[in-house]
Amino acid sequence: MKEQILKIKENSLQEIQKAENLKILNDLKVKYLGKKGELTAVLRGMGNLTPEERPIIGSLVNEVRDELEKLIREKEEKFEKEELNKKLENEKIDITLPSTKIKRGSLHPVNRIIEDIEDLFVSMGYDVVTGPELETDEYCFERLNLPKGHPARDMQDSFYINTEYLLRTQTSAVQARTMMANKDKTPIRMITAGKTYRREDDATHSHQFNQIEGLVVDYKERNVSLADLKGTLEVFVRKIIGANLDLRFRPSYFPFTEPSYEVDVTCFKCGGKGCNLCKQTGWIEVLGAGIVHPNVLKMNGYNPEKFGGFAFGTGIDRLAMFRYGITDMRYLYTNDVRFLSQFDRKDEE
Ligand code: PHE
Repeated sequence: MKEQILKIKENSLQEIQKAENLKILNDLKVKYLGKKGELTAVLRGMGNLTPEERPIIGSLVNEVRDELEKLIREKEEKFEKEELNKKLENEKIDITLPSTKIKRGSLHPVNRIIEDIEDLFVSMGYDVVTGPELETDEYCFERLNLPKGHPARDMQDSFYINTEYLLRTQTSAVQARTMMANKDKTPIRMITAGKTYRREDDATHSHQFNQIEGLVVDYKERNVSLADLKGTLEVFVRKIIGANLDLRFRPSYFPFTEPSYEVDVTCFKCGGKGCNLCKQTGWIEVLGAGIVHPNVLKMNGYNPEKFGGFAFGTGIDRLAMFRYGITDMRYLYTNDVRFLSQFDRKDEE
């Protein structure tokens, strides 16, 4: 029996030593040490031994088993370690490889102008405010001195949702909102930009467009005047569209300003000489502006005896057309990448 055990020991150690992977190792474990394994079978035969032989054989079997187990464990650990190293090696990230270039989008020319205008006005001490696109008749018209049935409402063909709500036709609604939010308490210097809607559609009009609006309301003794309005708009136009442009104020009518003006800018195409774009006048109409009407101040919580100011508004899309020489406004809304990619931020990188 002793020889048998030693034989098993010799064979098993040899096989285990040769095992090349965890699977083979596991099979060998079953073969020698498992319930039906060779060494276990020897133990079962111990019943036939004499009482003197039993402890000797017993301890020999234990010894061999310990030795096998130890060798198997060592090999297991070795294989596991190798496997882990292989995995780490395979999953290694080479941080020196060049990265995949992510294609960057670009700011839409309209948003770009909005950002530039907001930056400019913030630098002059204005606040940037916002208002809802779905607006009430009250804020879009009534609080701007345009009661129901007022003929000037016809200048803006609107999308009504019901009798009370419409898609705002002008950002001027935010003038009323800002005054109502402050009510005589503070002077106002604000700029607001956003989408506006009217029922019109051709090369120079779109049913959805963008406006920017400015409002200054200050104490009477500060004398906010037409001169201030003119100076402000000059800075605005020269910084945003072109440094060489001149402005011309033409008397006009808006219900919420008095006096009111339409502001023309030197034609960007002919430089003022006269061409087909400016209909030979040398000027292009760009802004609406004026001194805030006392009724508007009163209706929105500002005492016209104590306060005064100016307001102006303009279509951003038209500014974009001037600035970038775009001939058809619809390019701004058709999402053509060939058009949009010309405005990527190369200069900002
Ligand atoms: N809201 C006017 C328009 O859309 C423009 C305007 C704004 C005029 C502010 C005067 C003062 O035509």
